[in-house]
Amino acid sequence: MILTVEPADAGLQGEFTPPGDKSISHRALIFSSLAEGRSGLSGLLESEDTLATMKACQQLGAVVERSAGKVFITGTGGAFSPPPGGLLDLGNSGTAMRLLAGVLSGQGIECTLTGDESLNSRPMGRIVTPLTLMGADIRASNKGTAPLSIYSSGGLKGIEYVSPVASAQIKSCVLLAGLFASGSTRVLEPRLSRDHTERMLPIFGVELPAPCTVNGGSRLKAARFSVPADVSSAVFSLAAAAMTPGSDVTVQQVGLNPTRTGFLKCLQAMGADISTGNSSAQDAEPVGDIRVKFTDGLKAINVPESLVPDMIDEIPILMAFAATAQGTTRIRGAAELRVKESDRLAVMAKGLQKLGVELQEYPDGIDITGGPVTGGRVESAGDHRCAMSFSVLGLVASAPVQIEQAEYIATSYPGFVSDMNKLGADMQPGALL
Ligand code: S3P
Repeated sequence: MILTVEPADAGLQGEFTPPGDKSISHRALIFSSLAEGRSGLSGLLESEDTLATMKACQQLGAVVERSAGKVFITGTGGAFSPPPGGLLDLGNSGTAMRLLAGVLSGQGIECTLTGDESLNSRPMGRIVTPLTLMGADIRASNKGTAPLSIYSSGGLKGIEYVSPVASAQIKSCVLLAGLFASGSTRVLEPRLSRDHTERMLPIFGVELPAPCTVNGGSRLKAARFSVPADVSSAVFSLAAAAMTPGSDVTVQQVGLNPTRTGFLKCLQAMGADISTGNSSAQDAEPVGDIRVKFTDGLKAINVPESLVPDMIDEIPILMAFAATAQGTTRIRGAAELRVKESDRLAVMAKGLQKLGVELQEYPDGIDITGGPVTGGRVESAGDHRCAMSFSVLGLVASAPVQIEQAEYIATSYPGFVSDMNKLGADMQPGALL
């Protein structure tokens, strides 16, 4: 599908609640499916990624019911059963694959985890290494990617794992395997990555004896859990509002976990008019409303490397945003972007250049100089966040921007086009000619 975005002829206006947080939804589904009893989940994201996790959980023995906008899950009491045919297809979702690989290795369930072309090209050595140290028998392809084959092993032992990368998927994989290991398991990382697993486990009855540590043999219990709106989806309308003259947009009850708000800090540092309100805590996660109004004269910044883990999924939209700011925005320490759903540094650089943006790509980052943005046709390379980032930039381009493979937006945000159009954008999906 090709998405055509017309230059905005007026500002974006309105208030809305973006869909549920993807990271938290994956965890809510997996934790409920492992728990003893029936959990009730509200606000759950139902996108292609989280539906892949939901289907996998059903194939592993959880029972899913829907009623009155909620999802109820009767868990397996801690013991998944082997999936039909020994195969789980996790589509595009790295979180589903890495978290479930931890659980299934811990339980020694023989199966193969596979996904689409993008997922099957992402690095899995980063979880195979710690799981093998714990005693799991898990094998990746010769290239170190999925499909992953898990064989039953003689039981896992807890470890202290020093992760070379700040990655919540690695951390969560090891901690979840640790629930089924002997002794305790602890993960140390170079910088704190998103900490939803640590915040959510106690809600599902598993206390952490020390930071980022679990005791083997801990059992999950059913819970009622409310998923906040996804800040990683909210950022597209917020960035659009900051750069489109005449805009005033509020997103409501969005997750404001400090490990996820790096992009909001950058927007502020670049001079955007951004404020938060109605803050509260919802099931161990801070939430609040975020309002952004257009401001003239946004300025480039040097993005502090320490903020990169807190905005790892927002760097594509920051790259689009930087194309409209005065001066050169410098992003470094972001080599992880090369192993996401696509090589996001390369895909964004190529598309931005097509739209007339001046930039210089580096192995771990990019310099982007703001200036006029032209229209044109860009490839999203099947990456949902690149597709949404280009479409936001289309609002301030001098002619329409067309984005290829925009159907992948449904990976995380199926209602994106409709939400943007309600705010006043003109985005039209069409067939690829
Ligand atoms: C996620 C962690 C991040 C992020 C991904 C979701 C999670 O990946 O990019 O979209 O839910 O744990 P890494 O852990 O690989 O950085």
